[in-house]
Amino acid sequence: MLLSVVAVLMLLSCTCGENPAVQVVLTNKAVQYGKHTGTDWIQENLQRVSLPDISGKILGIIGYTLTGITIKKCDLPEPSVEFYPDATGFKTSVLGLSLAITGGWMTQCGIIHDGGSFDMAVFSVNVISVVELGKDANGHLSVTSVSCDARVGDVDIQFHGGASWIFQSFVEHFKGHISREIEIRICPNVEEMIVNLEYHLQAMNVSFDVDQALSFDLSLTGLPVMDVSSLNLGLKGEFYSIKTHMDPPFEAQPFSVPEQQGYMLSVGLSEFTLNSASYGYYLAGVFQALINDSMIPPGSPLHLNTSLMGPFIPQLPKMFPGLLMNLQVYAREVPMFSFQPDAVKLGFPGAVKAFAIQPNGTQTPLFKLNVDSEFSSKVWIAGGRVKGSISMDNFTLTLVGSEVGTFKTDALENIARIGVQMVLAKLNEKMGNGVVLPRMKEVELVNSVLKVEEGFIAISSDVEAFLTDRGFNRQTNRPA
Ligand SMILES: *[C@@H]1O[C@H](CO)[C@@H](O)[C@H](O)[C@H]1NC(C)=O
Ligand SMILES: *[C@@H]1O[C@H](CO)[C@@H](O)[C@H](O)[C@H]1NC(C)=O
Ligand SMILES: *[C@@H]1O[C@H](CO)[C@@H](O)[C@H](O)[C@H]1NC(C)=O
Ligand SMILES: *[C@@H]1O[C@H](CO)[C@@H](O)[C@H](O)[C@H]1NC(C)=O
Ligand SMILES: *[C@@H]1O[C@H](CO)[C@@H](O)[C@H](O)[C@H]1NC(C)=O
Repeated sequence: MLLSVVAVLMLLSCTCGENPAVQVVLTNKAVQYGKHTGTDWIQENLQRVSLPDISGKILGIIGYTLTGITIKKCDLPEPSVEFYPDATGFKTSVLGLSLAITGGWMTQCGIIHDGGSFDMAVFSVNVISVVELGKDANGHLSVTSVSCDARVGDVDIQFHGGASWIFQSFVEHFKGHISREIEIRICPNVEEMIVNLEYHLQAMNVSFDVDQALSFDLSLTGLPVMDVSSLNLGLKGEFYSIKTHMDPPFEAQPFSVPEQQGYMLSVGLSEFTLNSASYGYYLAGVFQALINDSMIPPGSPLHLNTSLMGPFIPQLPKMFPGLLMNLQVYAREVPMFSFQPDAVKLGFPGAVKAFAIQPNGTQTPLFKLNVDSEFSSKVWIAGGRVKGSISMDNFTLTLVGSEVGTFKTDALENIARIGVQMVLAKLNEKMGNGVVLPRMKEVELVNSVLKVEEGFIAISSDVEAFLTDRGFNRQTNRPA
């Protein structure tokens, strides 16, 4: 009894969980690169940050305000950023940050106002922030602040102008207060940055149209998975026909991308992804074509003219002399890819219906052939381009219906095979030139390698990021 309950529960949990067809694995190398790039960028941009005023009272009676505070110089030691599996997130520690700050001061005691400028050095600032990664209801990656702790070691202030000599003597008394005022402003700023980041993640499209027929869904299928050395994001990786938005009648199989600590990231692409595209195109009617004689090159040995079909179908010129023909070519079923070690295989179950075009335009059906072909392809990355080559493994013609009586298909098969080989030669020329690796505005893949494994393709790569000032402004200008 208990066993059957457990079995049912296991079945249920299996059908609920959806296998990701695309997996992205980030290694520690990516984190260290991101940290390094981020540190330079923060160091550059911190100088442009304007800080809120600080106010308080000295000796309980003299109200003071530090205003127009700007950071003149920032000495940002390389922070430490590490995977933090306890929170499925990152722990960032900035230890020993120091700042040179400048601004104006104002005091008010009753009706007496005074003011001037000041220089402040803030020493030994430590900030430790932990963020957690998650997944929202729409499959976006989410990031939230779990904890933030900020400590200011010491401050030193020099006042200039007005009666600054009076305040200068009180610095020892109220610098603790200033330290705390700075301390309590740090974490809200850090949290604001994390909220900004979260806002950008939410605004990202996890599904987008690839062309008129297909859209691609890259939403997360589950929570991010993390250990001390890597972060694994499972993405849906499914193409849909835009018109029908139907799931294919097959599922993504589980696979595990080998961890490559020498590269910043590895991407695993299941054969399901390619097959979902194939299914989407099949539904959209992309795998069908009408071929007529004007599409056949003039020098071709074969022409779509019944009078010239004698060598292949002896009875045809007698039954229908001197007529042009049409061929309706289509996939009988969804063409399916399978990934095998170092090879991508494609099975294409096709069919051809042949018609004679009568002088009055009527199309008379002649015969129907099944055309089954199998291809294998090699794929690799060289010089930042994905390249490949394709060859035909098998090609068979089978007569499955005829209005003109039976005939042998060998001769037709041979000439059709030559036709396919000619198409493949053109395709191989293109695949040999390759296509550039997908590149986003601010990120580029470098040092990429590709390996076809059983059921999936693994791409390992480093990235190069180009962070711009515009990126920073976009972040601070988000609508409230
Ligand atoms: C997100 O998708 C929508 C609808 O497809 C599109 O209008 C919008 O421009 C996309 N946004 C981005 C940032 O790509
Ligand atoms: C063949 O098809 C093309 C494209 O559909 C068309 O432009 C052309 O007129 C057709 N030729 C004949 C002879 O039917
Ligand atoms: C078909 O081929 C025959 C023999 O070459 C030719 O006489 C005839 O004009 C062709 N028919 C058409 C429509 O081109
Ligand atoms: C067109 O011609 C064919 C053969 O001559 C004939 O069988 C058919 O009835 C004709 N169709 C029309 C609509 O005239
Ligand atoms: C080629 O296809 C035919 C028919 O599908 C099959 O019988 C044959 O085993 C295949 N040959 C190879 C080499 O795959």
